[in-house]
Amino acid sequence: CERQDGRPFRQRLLVVANRLPVSAVRRGEDSWSLEISAGGLVTALLGVKEFETRWIGWAGVNVPDEIGQKALTKALAEKWCIPVFLDEEIVHQYYNGYCNNILWPLFHYLGLPQEDRLATTRSFQSQFAAYKKANQMFADVVNMHYEEGDVVWCHDYHLMYLPECLKNHNNNMKVGWFLHTPFPSSEIHRTLPSRSELLRSVLAADLVGACTRILGIEGTPEGVEDQGRLTRVAAFPIGIDSLRFQNALLVPQVQEHIKELKERFSGRKVMLGVDRLDMIKGIPQKILAFEKFLEENPNWRDKVVLLQIAVPTRTDVPEYQKLTSQVHEIVGRINGRFGSLTAVPIHHLDRSLDFHALCALYAVTDVALVTSLRDGMNLVSYEFVACQEAKKGVLILSEFAGAAQSLGAGAILVNPWNITEVAASIAQALNMSAEEREKRHQHNFHHVTKHTAQEWAEMFVSELNDTVVEAQLRTSK
Ligand code: ADP
Ligand code: F6P
Repeated sequence: CERQDGRPFRQRLLVVANRLPVSAVRRGEDSWSLEISAGGLVTALLGVKEFETRWIGWAGVNVPDEIGQKALTKALAEKWCIPVFLDEEIVHQYYNGYCNNILWPLFHYLGLPQEDRLATTRSFQSQFAAYKKANQMFADVVNMHYEEGDVVWCHDYHLMYLPECLKNHNNNMKVGWFLHTPFPSSEIHRTLPSRSELLRSVLAADLVGACTRILGIEGTPEGVEDQGRLTRVAAFPIGIDSLRFQNALLVPQVQEHIKELKERFSGRKVMLGVDRLDMIKGIPQKILAFEKFLEENPNWRDKVVLLQIAVPTRTDVPEYQKLTSQVHEIVGRINGRFGSLTAVPIHHLDRSLDFHALCALYAVTDVALVTSLRDGMNLVSYEFVACQEAKKGVLILSEFAGAAQSLGAGAILVNPWNITEVAASIAQALNMSAEEREKRHQHNFHHVTKHTAQEWAEMFVSELNDTVVEAQLRTSK
């Protein structure tokens, strides 16, 4: 939050997101440690430096007692964070249930989980009620900390009901809402029992934004009119703080790690996947495509290794637990099939890597595999490009990730469902000439370093400021 150069901040920004940038781990009755949270939302927002930011959200932990809540509030205040305390039942119904079991798969075109489709249908009403209750709890905390002139920036599908709660309390509040996931086509969206209520509530915001085109909301170039109120709707492509990654590569500890990794995998090309362990990331499909590549290219079998680093996420949701076992089973089978006593083709880690270790891995990678079945943007692809100035490795990228629109010309685009095509792309990437790699990398590097997280936030906030001024002018006429 603090500016290094002493210049005044432009504006106070209240970021409201389900997830705080740090997650809390209890160490004692009144002591907490804070760990950086995983995910693109956190990565992007941490790259925004030019606003005086307060972040309101859930610390990822149940804190039923007052002593614990007080201590955690104090620890978070040092990071400019303000907690929303959600009890276990609300988390179960709102976060695990409505957000992650209903909205998340629906917004990514995956449908409801097959096995518990009926159970989900039955629990829908109570989960939606919990969703609204949780959103109101976020609104209450915002209202407590709001100061006149603040910009309130709500994030993601967890908080679609929030703009309405905020505007009901104070219609003059400047409220923007940004979606980090794809917005489903209206044919998909209309299956949602709460479809109109959610959309109406989002349209209570002054500005609605998303990474890519918002298909479900039809409107004019000025926005969407609902009950006499005009809401601006636009796409604001997100980015990363690319300099942070480039600078990290200069740190001696990272250089040392790069050297170790090069020695460890010398004589082999390194392929890399970095994902939250989520069904939208297409991890089983990616690994099966790699297996097909090994099957069809015996000459490559001892010359290539796939490192798949998958941080566990939403581990209380059964669909995610099933995914973990499925990935382990496939990796074990392929390593059994193609491995030897001294080497295995796939190294799979279920864990989060620290920032420096991640940068070193990106830097030694020859081919990155981003094969999401759907993805809002996918910032891993941006991070990889930012760390590849020396190596100029190849990015294999799903055509269903938002990043395909920005990095498509430099990447090899694939349909992640088509394992034959992905296997062929792996061969193409590994055999690509240095000139071709250089050309593709330059295209992507230019984009990633130009369209940063800071630019994204500035565009959103300035559009929000303008929208509110225009609305005031319209009503005063
Ligand atoms: P999402 O928001 O769906 O998680 P993104 O690709 O946009 O997808 O962002 C993922 C973020 O989480 C990136 O900043 C990436 O570095 C980080 N991340 C993902 N997996 C890991 C991991 N295993 N270890 C460390 N960071 C990770
Ligand atoms: O948009 C994807 C998202 O929901 C982001 O909000 C966040 O970056 C990521 O998934 C992490 O998910 P969670 O907060 O459920 O761990």
